Amino acid sequence: MTTLMNLQHYLADDQLSKVQILDLITLARDIKQQPENYSQALAGKSVAMIFEKPSLRTHVSFDLGINKLGGHALYLGQQNGKLGERERVSDYAKNLSCYTDTIVARVFSNESIEQLAHHASVPVINALCDLYHPCQALADFVTLAENFADLSQVKLAYVGDANNVSNSLMLMAATVGVDFTLVCPEGHGPAADMLMKAKTLAKNSGAMFNSISDINAIGQQDVIYTDTWVSMGDENPSQKAVILEKFASYQVNHQLMVATGASTVMHCQPAHLEEEITTELFDSDMSVVFQSAENRMWAQNAVLVTLLASN
Ligand code: NVA
Repeated sequence: MTTLMNLQHYLADDQLSKVQILDLITLARDIKQQPENYSQALAGKSVAMIFEKPSLRTHVSFDLGINKLGGHALYLGQQNGKLGERERVSDYAKNLSCYTDTIVARVFSNESIEQLAHHASVPVINALCDLYHPCQALADFVTLAENFADLSQVKLAYVGDANNVSNSLMLMAATVGVDFTLVCPEGHGPAADMLMKAKTLAKNSGAMFNSISDINAIGQQDVIYTDTWVSMGDENPSQKAVILEKFASYQVNHQLMVATGASTVMHCQPAHLEEEITTELFDSDMSVVFQSAENRMWAQNAVLVTLLASN
């Protein structure tokens, strides 16, 4: 059992220390192994879940995960109007704080998450925004810890479009001390400030961090991670053919696994099979995508237990 550290919100990976992340991983694994010990952890507590975007894993894993902790989950889709349109985000936050003990939000803009956290009197969890997907990154690190005895020896590479998933992954890797290589086509790399954050964190932890566009320079890796080439909210049908052509040589496939020596492939899902990853590799023994999907629930439960113990 880990020491529950003080955590006010769960918004972005670079707001967490190495100790906090490692404690969350330990707690997630403990909840996974002994869920009965946590079956009343959220008894009498309720969690409001705001979803501006579609979701399968996030919605289901939060809802059923909260149920496993003895709490009540309330789904809020778009039936009350778009966040910030029918009423201000600040009023949304203040109203929900009257009834709930935690707010989970999947939003288009990071600004909405920041506003919710600023105005809510209860903890806020970022369930994906344009900049971060910290619940996914934590689940991925739980998965890495399950598959590799020593995280400090793991070489992790993300291949594809720099997005919310890669931002969270690289920041968490840099904080925890996992070697990370980011491989994105020219013009599809991370924003300069995000890159700077990752470099600074890696320098502090002593981890290697490398951002390149030449896929042939990827080097030896243990784990290859990929995600969709076009994220929710960025769809532009007229650009689809251009993207497919530009990203074609960044497809994660069997040849790339052989060339890098990687044993493990990861994807946050939903996967666009035969685009960023081949069906064969996604379905292969090297793939831990469903292990990570399950770990979403245990990781988020660790965040919920920690937040409610701290607040
Ligand atoms: N980068 C993807 C992740 C989906 C879970 C998106 O934002 O659409």
